[in-house]
Amino acid sequence: MTTDSTEHSPDPVLPDVNMHLVPPSKPVVGRVVESTNCMKGKSASFVRHVSIDVSGTPLEGAFCSGQSFGVVPPGVDHNGKPHKVRLYSIASPTRGEDGEGKVLATTCKRLIDEYWPQTPKDDETRHDLFTGVCSNYLCDSKVGDEILVTGPVGKRFILPAEPCRHDYLFLATGTGIAPFRGMISDLLEGPDGPVDSDIHLVMGVPYTTDLLYDDALRALEKRHANFHYHTVVSREIQPDGTKGGYVHHYLDRQVHLHETLLREDRTLMYLCGLAGMQLGVFQFLARAGLGDAYLKVKDDLRDVAPADWDTKSIRKYVRPTHRCMLEVY
Ligand code: A2P
Repeated sequence: MTTDSTEHSPDPVLPDVNMHLVPPSKPVVGRVVESTNCMKGKSASFVRHVSIDVSGTPLEGAFCSGQSFGVVPPGVDHNGKPHKVRLYSIASPTRGEDGEGKVLATTCKRLIDEYWPQTPKDDETRHDLFTGVCSNYLCDSKVGDEILVTGPVGKRFILPAEPCRHDYLFLATGTGIAPFRGMISDLLEGPDGPVDSDIHLVMGVPYTTDLLYDDALRALEKRHANFHYHTVVSREIQPDGTKGGYVHHYLDRQVHLHETLLREDRTLMYLCGLAGMQLGVFQFLARAGLGDAYLKVKDDLRDVAPADWDTKSIRKYVRPTHRCMLEVY
């Protein structure tokens, strides 16, 4: 069964996918089979590609690219209760890392920060280091370690049932690239053969060294003429002396490159990463007169110049259409 479309509509038909086969109340045991640093170079961040064998569990062969899975870290939280499940994007194609759906992977960034007071009750003088519980647990895990996993979760941020009927613009910041690694692999190297759709991936990072899966993506671009990989490096100076900016600045600068793609009825846009990217991209689309296919702007905001939109107002008054998939945090 499928949803969301008719024969002539440009809207994608999304396949039915498995959901919650393993609920958080009854996690199953997976085993780490690989953990590699997937960054381009030395950086202030630490991001690892962690692969987990889920064979023999209900997750085996039952997830698809774009979905998430859960990890339950060991131990208890500050209230003495067992830690809750955390969701991670599946970075693998639907056939898994192993080609048989037995191994799924994620792109995990260590959360490292200084403590800061967040409520009036908190100690204002405190500034010691804190490390995110689950991201560091997952990044510290070694090959052979057992991990409690759940899922899969997510039925909207996935590829359409008939991928060849569409072209694609994938927009990512940082680890937001995870689902696109899987989806692009499905499109170009999956069992149904490469699609000849136009596929663009725009990846935004602070420094070149923060690029993720960069060598693999460049190699994929060499193998497939219809795949185009664009990088946007926010904090480095470009040849013209300006900073690289954000993903939406890049779209603005390169509008000649993407305008035709975005005007096509076939095109689907997927955004994954920082919530701020959503505002910037929505403003870009509206300003460039490309928004109608991807955004429904309610009357309250229709007469407000896109430059004056903000995160709050787009949350309230702008809805993505069926051709715009969002996963922002
Ligand atoms: P910057 O940190 O220079 O402000 P990562 O997850 O690896 O930190 O990368 C996130 C990337 O997204 C960085 O390049 C970051 O830039 C950029 N970024 C930050 N805010 C926004 C925003 N509002 N829209 C798009 N990109 C953003």
